[in-house]
Amino acid sequence: MTETNDTATYRVENRIAWVSFNRPEKRNCMSPRLNQRMYEILHELEYRDDVGVLVLTGEGSAWSAGMDLKEYFRETEAKGMGATRQAQREAYSWWRRLRWYQKPTIAMVNGWCFGGGYGPLYSCDLAIAADEAQFGLSEINWGILPGGGATKVVVDLVPMRDAMYHALTGEMIDGKKAAEWRLVNESVPLAQLQARVVALANVLLEKNPVTLKAAKDAVRRVKEMTYDNAEDYLIRAQEAANSYDNDGRKEGIRQFIDEKSYKPGLGAYDKSRKG
Ligand code: COA
Repeated sequence: MTETNDTATYRVENRIAWVSFNRPEKRNCMSPRLNQRMYEILHELEYRDDVGVLVLTGEGSAWSAGMDLKEYFRETEAKGMGATRQAQREAYSWWRRLRWYQKPTIAMVNGWCFGGGYGPLYSCDLAIAADEAQFGLSEINWGILPGGGATKVVVDLVPMRDAMYHALTGEMIDGKKAAEWRLVNESVPLAQLQARVVALANVLLEKNPVTLKAAKDAVRRVKEMTYDNAEDYLIRAQEAANSYDNDGRKEGIRQFIDEKSYKPGLGAYDKSRKG
């Protein structure tokens, strides 16, 4: 299923939703219209049964060149504070929706990724970049600090010295360096990027979807907790997951202990069978 002709598009194929920034002529920079459309798309896809993983990528040479300096900054600021706050809410709300998305998400970074683009990059659970992709906190080059979450993203993901260097110099790093810094999980040559992302998505598609959601939220949530709080949260989170899927883990145990048909250390149980 395909939807076209907009600032953002999607198609669903083999349980993967491919969502694209679709302003290649503007290097996929994020205008208010694009931000509104992305929110709508996330909403449309989130609970569809035929979607197991969402991949966020960009049409053309860019993943996203960050916020649209003309439409997001200059034009909304000219309309006053109300319009500015509205535009910020629209951007931040789809990034937040993506951060806590029901399905696991992968950023497939095919090209330029600047400034505001770090928001959705961070929102995706996993990120695979092309070696050829270029990442930069370009804000310093045009006279603002890396806002819209970008400073928080680099401080959360990369060591302090690298974060500071990145924010103050505005120098770009390529996909390989981004992987070395842990801004992304790994980088591969552009020609192999899609195949690598499909392989990763297929690994996720084998897992129990209720467990995936519980696990991805847990990884984000426990980061800011004390050990004791995390221990308690994880007990509650698993029990809450059991209320949606009480049979899954029992089946996982059964196939290993009784049936001996798989080993959890080596792969996922067959979730199509219910014992
Ligand atoms: N905001 C507004 N317009 C942008 C944009 C942005 N962030 N990024 C690209 N564009 C527009 C350009 O103005 C140009 O528009 P035009 O065709 O009407 O002149 C078009 O997209 C193509 O950009 P161009 O600069 O010609 O492409 P390029 O491939 O030579 O360079 C970049 C690509 C990404 C290096 C360059 O466009 C750039 O530096 N963009 C700004 C990146 C940035 O600072 N983003 C941070 C915002 S928080």
